[in-house]
Amino acid sequence: MTRFPLKQWLLSSFLLPIVIIMLLYIQSEINRLDKSRVNLELVVQRLETERFKKASLSNEEIWANTGEVTPNSDEMVVIYNRVPKTASTSFAGIAYDLCLKNHFNVLHLNVTKNSHLLSLPDQMRFAQNISKWVAKKPALYHGHIAYLDFSKLGEGLIKPIYINIIRDPLERLVSYYYFLRNGDDFRPHLKRRKSGNKESFDECAEKDGKDCDPENLWMQIPFFCGHAAECWYPGSNWALEQAKYNLVNNYLVVGLTEELNDFVAVLEAVLPRFFKGATHLYGTGRKSHLRKTFNKLPVSEETINKFQDSPIWKLENEFYQFAKYHFHFIKKRTFALLKDGHLQQQPSQFSFEKIRPR
Ligand SMILES: *[C@@H]1O[C@H](CO)[C@@H](O)[C@H](O)[C@H]1NC(C)=O
Ligand SMILES: *[C@@H]1O[C@H](CO)[C@@H](O)[C@H](O)[C@H]1NC(C)=O
Repeated sequence: MTRFPLKQWLLSSFLLPIVIIMLLYIQSEINRLDKSRVNLELVVQRLETERFKKASLSNEEIWANTGEVTPNSDEMVVIYNRVPKTASTSFAGIAYDLCLKNHFNVLHLNVTKNSHLLSLPDQMRFAQNISKWVAKKPALYHGHIAYLDFSKLGEGLIKPIYINIIRDPLERLVSYYYFLRNGDDFRPHLKRRKSGNKESFDECAEKDGKDCDPENLWMQIPFFCGHAAECWYPGSNWALEQAKYNLVNNYLVVGLTEELNDFVAVLEAVLPRFFKGATHLYGTGRKSHLRKTFNKLPVSEETINKFQDSPIWKLENEFYQFAKYHFHFIKKRTFALLKDGHLQQQPSQFSFEKIRPR
């Protein structure tokens, strides 16, 4: 009995200090490792920022070396004032898919009650806001509003780059007509304003219904004409002329729904800052199929003839043909058509010489 406590005493008097020393050692090792972990994190962070800086630098070098269009790109603001039912959702989707990779912002402009017009105070606020909102530049704004001329709103505002897409006017109206009744595959469960109405476009046209009145064609001209009262007066010749003027002078490029892939290719060639990689994405990705309106019926010859007799169709169609002609003109000078039907971007065809003084 007496020997046992002695053994215990001996054991603890030898072992306890050893255990304590070991514990102290382990504690100091942990501290040391902790310190080097913190150091390592700092180094990784520094490397990350350096890598990021290098990446943006080499981007600029790429623009400089390839002679691609290189505007002072980080101030750029693009406005896509999309016309309803022209494949605009598909196209906006491309911008959303590219914005991270190409480092720009995309913002949807939501106007109360889907109005296509801004009040004069709102025009001023909108122009001031997007001119001064540096944190969101470079930016692509998209929304269903009519063309807005910034230059009359005063000093210190940006000059945005406008782009847009238009479509055969009757096809656009028919698409809109069925969209209101049947919805589409983009938001299939949303109940549309006229859902449940089974009347076909032909039936509607036959009894001169309100939804297929040729006045409803009056949409693409006013969108390009702008915020003037006369723009929204169906059948105005002045509005047509103004729309043509803006299309040529105030839009960078306007594509066609029917040739969306060519529009994407032109944009990639002229605005690589935003659209680099767009052709590839559009050609191969899920965006290659358009948003589809459900149960869209073909329109009869009779209905087409009836529409083509209306003065409003004539003006809208004239505008559409004008835009088409202009787009083909741009396309032809941007690309060479290869034998296999593919388009190839033309290299820069100008250079400078006789530069003096040396
Ligand atoms: C626009 O804003 C309204 C009200 O804030 C909202 O109810 C509506 O869903 C928005 N529209 C879109 C397309 O997000
Ligand atoms: C523009 O409007 C947004 C909100 O709608 C706001 O957050 C932003 O600060 C505004 N920018 C400027 C420069 O006024």
